Amino acid sequence: MTYAAVTGWGKCMPPAILSNADLATFLDTDDEWITTRTGMKERRISHVNAIEMAYVAAMRTLACAGLAASDIDLIVYGSCSNDEMVPNTASALQYKLGAGNAAAMDVNTACTSFLYSWSTANAMIRSGVVRRALVVGVELISRYMDWDNRGVAVLFGDGAAAIVLEATEERTGLLAETLGCYADARGILRIGGYGAAYANSNVTFGDMSWIFDGPQIFKKAVQGMTDASAKTLDKVGVSSSDIDLVVPHQANARIIEAVAKYAGIPMAKVHLTVQKYGNMSAATVPVALVEALEEGRLGPRGKLLMPAFGAGLTLCSHYAEWGERTSPKDVADVELPPCESTALELVQAIRAAKDIRGRSAAGLAGAYLVDQRPYGAQ
Ligand code: ACO
Repeated sequence: MTYAAVTGWGKCMPPAILSNADLATFLDTDDEWITTRTGMKERRISHVNAIEMAYVAAMRTLACAGLAASDIDLIVYGSCSNDEMVPNTASALQYKLGAGNAAAMDVNTACTSFLYSWSTANAMIRSGVVRRALVVGVELISRYMDWDNRGVAVLFGDGAAAIVLEATEERTGLLAETLGCYADARGILRIGGYGAAYANSNVTFGDMSWIFDGPQIFKKAVQGMTDASAKTLDKVGVSSSDIDLVVPHQANARIIEAVAKYAGIPMAKVHLTVQKYGNMSAATVPVALVEALEEGRLGPRGKLLMPAFGAGLTLCSHYAEWGERTSPKDVADVELPPCESTALELVQAIRAAKDIRGRSAAGLAGAYLVDQRPYGAQ
């Protein structure tokens, strides 16, 4: 029987740090509220487009696996903040990497996009369609955040990470998952002005008005992640006490604590990044996974549980068993371009650009970006 081993992993975090104190300079909020309600202290704001973060994460991942880009058969790009809708963003990554032998597809299930992408690539490897896949989770939510809405602006951050999967006869990798969607609740988390339905309409392009019912999302998230985790463990015949590490989606520390409690898993076995990165949507689980490996929290043959939820409301929980290797084969000599601005300056530029858009179709004039052009533009 064929399985899909994880043989490479890597992340790319943009350097600019936005603190709770920074947020309080333009929002009616404070460190105490954000910390006690969410567990968040800081988040990252990207100075480059998402494709640049995805590229650096992917190069590091390929080096970790000891592979060249031309070895990859499939790229699955999990995100809900794609730089462009058409063409897809996976094709930009294929082009930038020089991964000319790879099929390239985007998956958008919001915060669960990376885990849904892993399921997709895993199934394609296990059924023999491809042998080697690059799976990416990347988000640039800062660019379409409604920075004047304190109910959402404090919660999100940017980042990217990836894994490489390779076909093997050894029983390893993703062994069971549960995927689902509470579509009747899809209206409690949506972003107005983002999508073809708004194009050429009288909605101002880029009018990112968030509908976000935090308390309802909170309840559905706990329910969805808890139910999906129980089903997944049942499918694979593993007890929660056998789990070595939980790498959950990190939207709120209180959600994670509730899910761990219902699953009967102590918080000491949960890897947390929410305090330093906030909610990076699709990037959250892969970044936490990479850091768990870097910090030695996941050992050879480690048993992993990865519950997540996102807009839709999509939900899932993945069970994976790691292989023998927990250190990279090689390291890539690749970095993001330097960031000349503070995170607060980047956010203020986005807020200012939103104001400008009301008066000028020129919109984001590129003043604060390293390269505002979509990748491949002349
Ligand atoms: N600073 C200060 N006060 C605030 C802030 C803020 N940033 N935001 C809201 N408040 C106020 C509210 O106005 C409210 O005031 P009121 O009582 O005077 O009306 C009060 O704080 C309580 O607000 P609640 O929304 O009830 O606070 P709650 O404890 O539920 O926490 C939170 C809100 C953090 C959003 C929580 O509900 C949550 O984490 N929900 C889940 C969100 C989530 O996980 N989203 C992820 C999916 S995203 C995706 O898929 C792309």
